[in-house]
Amino acid sequence: MERDIKELIKLGLDALPLAYTPYSNFKVAAVLETLDGRVYTGVNIENAAYTPTNCAERTAFFKAISEGDRRFRRIVVLGGKGGIPEEGTAPCGVCRQVMMEFCDPKTFEVIIAKSEEEYRTMTLEQLLPEGFGPDNLKEVPHEDI
Ligand code: THU
Repeated sequence: MERDIKELIKLGLDALPLAYTPYSNFKVAAVLETLDGRVYTGVNIENAAYTPTNCAERTAFFKAISEGDRRFRRIVVLGGKGGIPEEGTAPCGVCRQVMMEFCDPKTFEVIIAKSEEEYRTMTLEQLLPEGFGPDNLKEVPHEDI
């Protein structure tokens, strides 16, 4: 069952304060909806060593995958400086690549939201044109070692 976009955005706004951002204070939340209508929220989780930081989108994806879900309809992304989602936060390149692993780029939707009323929707293909994904490795024989 498909949910109302406003409901998904509300879940993201509620999750935003849970972002762990002592270094940037840039808080992001993501709400990932499966084709079956299940929902996983995620926030960004920073680290004193910086590179282990995990974006909100990947947190949501990794929660879902680790719970057995692999078929996704769309993701809401929102956030900003100080946790104020004014500007509309687009997924970083690494997160787009993770989406490419599990989603059909022509149909998977990324909803970049500023509020329950203000959001725009793009397909993964628009955000990652000519992306490299699992299909590119189909039929590739494994090397003998
Ligand atoms: N960040 C996300 O969580 N998602 C994005 O789409 C962009 C960036 C996080 C990573 C880091 O914790 C902070 O925002 C600033 O880059």
